[in-house]
Amino acid sequence: MSETTKKYTIAVIPGDGIGKEVTPWAQKALEKAAEGVAEFEYEHFDLGAERYLRDGAILPEEEEDRIKQTDAILLGAVGDPRIKAGILERGLLLKLRFDLDQYVNLRPSKLYRGVTSPLADPGDIDFVVVREGTEGLYCGAGGAVRRGTPNEVATEVSINTAYGVERVVRYAFRLAMKRKKHVTLVHKKNVLVNAGDMWQRIVDKVAEEYPEVSHDYLHIDATTIFMVSDPSRFDVILTDNLFGDIITDEAGAVVGGVGYSASGCINASDEYPSMFEPIHGSAPDIAGQNKANPTAAILSAAMLLHHLGFDDTAASIDAAVEADIEELGSTARSTDEVGRDILARM
Ligand code: IPM
Ligand code: MN
Repeated sequence: MSETTKKYTIAVIPGDGIGKEVTPWAQKALEKAAEGVAEFEYEHFDLGAERYLRDGAILPEEEEDRIKQTDAILLGAVGDPRIKAGILERGLLLKLRFDLDQYVNLRPSKLYRGVTSPLADPGDIDFVVVREGTEGLYCGAGGAVRRGTPNEVATEVSINTAYGVERVVRYAFRLAMKRKKHVTLVHKKNVLVNAGDMWQRIVDKVAEEYPEVSHDYLHIDATTIFMVSDPSRFDVILTDNLFGDIITDEAGAVVGGVGYSASGCINASDEYPSMFEPIHGSAPDIAGQNKANPTAAILSAAMLLHHLGFDDTAASIDAAVEADIEELGSTARSTDEVGRDILARM
């Protein structure tokens, strides 16, 4: 390693359930890929269900400050059936996405050779969902009155700012320039006329600066049909926070299961670290059994490397994963076996 090799600090948050089993493999892949290229130091954070049940802490300020000082974050999964829905999701995962202003939730979907799609005729699937990450229905705007009474009122308000929308729209067009140069805006502008119209106008305006990129529009309901009838039509799908959450789960299923789907929560202005995680959850039903597929976690390590500018190094992980899936994708293997097999190819 040369003396000029740059040092990076990576925050590792395995979290809950299978997150604890797959994240070590993401870290090992990162370590191996980075050998001789960059120096990575890892800072582990004990955050998630166990910690919360032990001492009530979800994301203490001092720990969040340390996370903010790192160069990137590897996250496993968050969620535990012993804890009321929303506490860890809002208090840990979404708090990080919001506080670190990770406004692009980047979710590629690719049908690898060797994977059986549930679709009879899937075609060549290779698209990326650019999901807005800091606004929409996820903001937490709303509340409840007369809770628990027959007259209860509950509201959740979708927040859409021109600033927040424009920055993610720009990201989508820049990304399309590096791909097949097509952006599909997905919304529900026939009903959500305020937000939908603003998204469309901003897309139309930004598109003028990218004459090489074509763009079209689909309602979210129609998108769910095309996702199973003609998924190879998509290149870059641009959408808001909640639509993006839903459509990426469907996309994961279409490419053979979320075990192959990685994601990045990106702060594209690099003001704070970006965070990389498999899109699957903590899967309590199979946790602790060495059954979970670590492939998505390993692919998120590759996305992390891409983000830090190590494109060739990232490509070495992608290639190992692709070769592994092609040869052994349909073989039943444990978490550790898949991890070892992928690393052996790097
Ligand atoms: C995801 C998850 C999260 C989300 C939950 C756990 C808050 O479903 O990353 O897709 O809704 O964004
Ligand atoms: Mn989701």
